[in-house]
Amino acid sequence: MINDREALAGDLERLVAAVHSSAKYGRVCEDVVRGVGERELAKGRRLKDAVKATKKKLHQVGGAYLEAGMDYAAWLDDLRAASGNEGDFRRACAETMRHHSSTKERFQILDEFYATVLADLPPLHSVLDLACGLNPLAIPWMGLPDGAAYYAYDIYEDMVEFLQAFMELTPVRGQAAACDVLRSCPKPRVDLALVLKSVPCLEQIDKSAGAQLLDTIDADYLLVSFPVYSLGGRDKGMPTNYEARFRELVADKDWSIKRFEFAAELAFLVSR
Ligand SMILES: C[S@@+](CC[C@H](N)C(=O)[O-])C[C@H]1O[C@@H](n2cnc3c(N)ncnc32)[C@H](O)[C@@H]1O
Repeated sequence: MINDREALAGDLERLVAAVHSSAKYGRVCEDVVRGVGERELAKGRRLKDAVKATKKKLHQVGGAYLEAGMDYAAWLDDLRAASGNEGDFRRACAETMRHHSSTKERFQILDEFYATVLADLPPLHSVLDLACGLNPLAIPWMGLPDGAAYYAYDIYEDMVEFLQAFMELTPVRGQAAACDVLRSCPKPRVDLALVLKSVPCLEQIDKSAGAQLLDTIDADYLLVSFPVYSLGGRDKGMPTNYEARFRELVADKDWSIKRFEFAAELAFLVSR
């Protein structure tokens, strides 16, 4: 006789297969599908409803930021063609970032964002970019020394393959992988960790995500930021609410924190 646990495990396998069979979610790494799917099945949903709810959640946390038909091969061709000239390369990077709606918002503040936030830091030899989207395309603006290690993680296998190939065009030693930052991403000790605009998004999957991340990242400096726009446009209450959430997350920490407010992003640089 099949017990409840075995039935649930069988449903989870079927859910993962069903989600992966759709074009939109076929390249979302298995660990993330499993994590979200497990939570939906645990709510007592029927398989069909759990598949639907999993896709909806994956859309909210990832798919909603991507434009239709992400053409990684063509972008890589353009970046390779531009890589011989610094100005052309930066322009190609900035153009490419616009295909991810969250990274795109940084486009308008790119020249000031990293220059301002990282201005007083010592040379950064290692960077961890969690839930990175297309932010590694901003590497040319970060002022990293040649050979710095750059770890970039997101949920899409095709996106991280592209980022891996892209980083080979830059002076960093890049390592991009598809994984779930809440379950499986390696978190090597680094000089700087970036958690850019992803706490609200990850907290849609797991309410403890922000706290969990801040506790498990091993970095001298941590840059945590929040959007000032919703996907639908500017929202006046957002910065206030997100700042309150961030202050709550760090309330019991003995960390020094610098606040930066840009037109398109609210950022906190934490020194530990
Ligand atoms: C709001 S965007 C931020 C992107 C990037 N950090 C930036 O600021 O340009 C959130 C990103 O988190 C990724 N993501 C969502 N859930 C994730 C998870 N469990 N593990 C890793 N990445 C995740 C999404 O695919 C998306 O690219």
